[in-house]
Amino acid sequence: MEGTSVQMLLAVVSVLSCTTDQARLTVSPGSSQFFKDKFVSLSCEEDDSSAGWTLRRNTTTETRTQCGPDWGKAAGSSCKISHIDPLDSGVYWCESREGATSQSINITVSGGAVILQSPVLPVMEGENITLICRTQTSSDLPADFYKHGSLIIDRPTGHVTILHVSKADEGVYRCNIRGHGESPPSWISVTGTPTTAAPPPDSAPLQQVFTVVRYLVVFCPYVISTVLMVSVSTQTHRKSPVCLHGDDPAHPC
Ligand SMILES: *[C@@H]1O[C@H](CO)[C@@H](O)[C@H](O)[C@H]1NC(C)=O
Ligand SMILES: *[C@@H]1O[C@H](CO)[C@@H](O)[C@H](O)[C@H]1NC(C)=O
Repeated sequence: MEGTSVQMLLAVVSVLSCTTDQARLTVSPGSSQFFKDKFVSLSCEEDDSSAGWTLRRNTTTETRTQCGPDWGKAAGSSCKISHIDPLDSGVYWCESREGATSQSINITVSGGAVILQSPVLPVMEGENITLICRTQTSSDLPADFYKHGSLIIDRPTGHVTILHVSKADEGVYRCNIRGHGESPPSWISVTGTPTTAAPPPDSAPLQQVFTVVRYLVVFCPYVISTVLMVSVSTQTHRKSPVCLHGDDPAHPC
């Protein structure tokens, strides 16, 4: 009985300590494609600033390089790129001193005349997304939108909204504005969510439990092993006072 409550306390403490060891990467302006020479700011929004989150990236020429001095200007846990270049295209993520990582995002910088503005982060199933095809100066020119190389729709206004996205909408998108050019491709990912089909009213607490369990299982294997080791050692400890034949004075119970 006592052992179980100690284990539960440890589990709660470990969940609390683990959930604070997180960071979310945000991009401003919120787009996955940019025109060359634009100003872009990336931030690691952390719960625990002492964990030392820094921004890192992989590009075609670099691996795991940290913001500043070779690229970007670090300011606390954010990184500012004042004249972004096609060579800055790549995957970006936040990493703590201990090696924990945030979600990663793809950024594409175009030296051309057209970009596709699409969601930076994975989209939840059931959400609506808007794709904007634009030039430097205009976002309402007639545009064609392509998915996996096939035309999906042409729009007189340069943007298209996809309602209630599903896993089937995931893919590589690109757009074209006649007379101006084509955007680079961007991968749009859709993540499943169990709440799309009218959830029963009491499912929210259940989901929170799932979230907690997920944190415990995914992010804290080391904490779990600590909990196990502590519980094993307390059990061993509790056994010793029984000491039925402990008559050896050198090892009193
Ligand atoms: C960055 O590149 C390294 C080495 O190729 C790879 O192991 C790592 O998974 C990459 N990171 C991301 C977020 O793609
Ligand atoms: C980045 O793009 C590649 C393909 O270009 C895709 O496989 C990968 O899932 C994307 N990563 C993210 C975080 O969207």
